[in-house]
Amino acid sequence: MSAEMVFVEHCKGISGLDKVILREVRGSSAEVYLYGGQVISWKNDHGEELLFVSSKAPFKPPKAIRGGIPICFPQFGSHGHLEQHGFARNRFWSIDHDPPPFITNNSNKAFVDLILKHSEEDAKIWPHRYEFRLRVTLGPGGDLMLTSRIRNTNTDGKSFTFTFAYHNYFSVSDISEVRIEGLETLDYLDNLQDRQRFTEQGDAITFESEVDKIYVSTPTKIAILDHEKKRTFVLRKDGLPDAVVWNPWDKKAKLIPDLGDEEYKHMLCVEAAAVEKPITLKPGEEWKGRQELSAVPSSYCSGQLDPQKVLQGN
Ligand code: BG6
Repeated sequence: MSAEMVFVEHCKGISGLDKVILREVRGSSAEVYLYGGQVISWKNDHGEELLFVSSKAPFKPPKAIRGGIPICFPQFGSHGHLEQHGFARNRFWSIDHDPPPFITNNSNKAFVDLILKHSEEDAKIWPHRYEFRLRVTLGPGGDLMLTSRIRNTNTDGKSFTFTFAYHNYFSVSDISEVRIEGLETLDYLDNLQDRQRFTEQGDAITFESEVDKIYVSTPTKIAILDHEKKRTFVLRKDGLPDAVVWNPWDKKAKLIPDLGDEEYKHMLCVEAAAVEKPITLKPGEEWKGRQELSAVPSSYCSGQLDPQKVLQGN
């Protein structure tokens, strides 16, 4: 390790937007935009990009950036009176210079603390005071951790209720070659059928058409296996009982202006979320929701990956 290793660099990104680059000793990196408090890039120690960002994303506020890890708060989806996925993803966040201490291991050097607070403007549509603290950490092994702490700072004695998601866009070689392990046999709410409840079959989840499902009360660990890339993403989550799986497929992709017509093939959203049971905070209360992403090489033997090993492994 060089003595000059810079773990955290503040600079300008696309369209002159402020960003923070996190780097770790073995060469992995991540980029976080203050606009949206959004991770836009996560690279492994070979410099390979692990997140999908649309080539048509304009990076022009007030539009949310299509790709990376948008934060959906205080509303996931369009069920509610706010704009789809809430407003946190198209607000300018600030660097949090003095975050309250974390109880967890803080030996990591590549991290940034961001904060979003209520504004007069937002109070017109969501009349609450809050502090949303987001820590993004790149671990020495290249794992990416996001921790959200949301506090009700209302002074009028009122509780508030919200839904939430880390809207992860994973980069995949070819959506037809990808499967998800860890969600089979679970109940889900189908966004394509007015959130009706169904039960998933026993097989691993594969993709051959549009999917937009909210799996409820899922295990804390989900694996996304990319056969062609021989790569497995492992998503671990805490405080976030649900998992949203979304791919727009060809017809819907054509209707999304900031997504290329063919780009649906190279993205898959698997989102750590709290949707089915909204979270309510009384004044002074804090909620914490955490996810950890890792990308591990996976071996391919006789046409089958062994997902159990992935799910059982650390
Ligand atoms: C997913 C939702 O999380 O996000 C989908 O389940 C939605 O219903 C998708 O279409 C993208 O949303 P947006 O607002 O970023 O286009």
